[in-house]
Amino acid sequence: MEAVSRTAQWTAAARALETEREDRLFADPYARTVADETGFELLARYDGGGIVPFLAIRTTYLDRAVVKAVEERGIRQVVFLAAGMDTRFFRLPWPDGVTVYELDRPALLEAKAEMLKDEPQPAGRTRVTVPVDLTQDWTGPLKEAGWKSEEPVLWVVEGLLFFLPEQAVRTLISTLSAHAAPGSVLLGDVISKSALENPLARGFMKALEEDGNPWLFGTEEPETLLADCGWAVREVKQPGEDGAAFDRWPYPVPARSVPRMPRSFLFTCDTPTFEEGKAA
Ligand SMILES: C[S@@+](CC[C@H](N)C(=O)[O-])C[C@H]1O[C@@H](n2cnc3c(N)ncnc32)[C@H](O)[C@@H]1O
Repeated sequence: MEAVSRTAQWTAAARALETEREDRLFADPYARTVADETGFELLARYDGGGIVPFLAIRTTYLDRAVVKAVEERGIRQVVFLAAGMDTRFFRLPWPDGVTVYELDRPALLEAKAEMLKDEPQPAGRTRVTVPVDLTQDWTGPLKEAGWKSEEPVLWVVEGLLFFLPEQAVRTLISTLSAHAAPGSVLLGDVISKSALENPLARGFMKALEEDGNPWLFGTEEPETLLADCGWAVREVKQPGEDGAAFDRWPYPVPARSVPRMPRSFLFTCDTPTFEEGKAA
């Protein structure tokens, strides 16, 4: 597995810890298996700065947003970009007929398949894994795997954008909007540029770099980035704000007007309405 793919075991380890709390926000019974020892080693190595509570919040925010988007909009194709060790296909309540596409690097998908090989496939839903490099053309392989670009889609881009250079981020988010039939939704997360430069996070950033998976991208203006790339932004939340706190965030939430703050953002976008499209 590439170094960057091992970070998927890190986030799975955080989901295992949340699952094992009595007051858990969600249950991911597969998380400990897919995290394996590597995931817990990375969790110890990258500890601090609210990472574990943030990952519990991010998972919960996106779990709820995914279920809502599928239920309310009748979307039947869901694509997890950089799915990593995500097990939402197994653990969320999907409607019958949904197809979940999991895109990631080939070696990660092979390792995950081996780890989950004895898990029964839930009925009424389909899971398709698509090995890709998301900085290259990946829509071709996704189409070959069965995705229909003319039908609404739910894109989920979780825990990926900070690993990519800015141009690759812009290309990816624009590609998603160019292939979003009306009624499609985009969910994900991004960090602020100041988070990359925060002196208190130097040790963390150095460890990521030494391990071969440096964080490269952040923005103070996620709304502008997403709108520039063709999306109608419906919600941007920092952890700890109403709707993204879940009784987990241990720090005050800095107002957006305070400059140079390390921040994470969770976002929900959809396709622009006719009027929004004309105004853009
Ligand atoms: C921190 S993990 C996040 C995984 C999962 N979405 C989660 O939140 O637990 C980052 C993931 O991005 C994937 N990744 C990074 N660069 C990629 C690329 N160029 N193409 C495909 N996947 C990539 C890695 O393999 C890894 O699974």
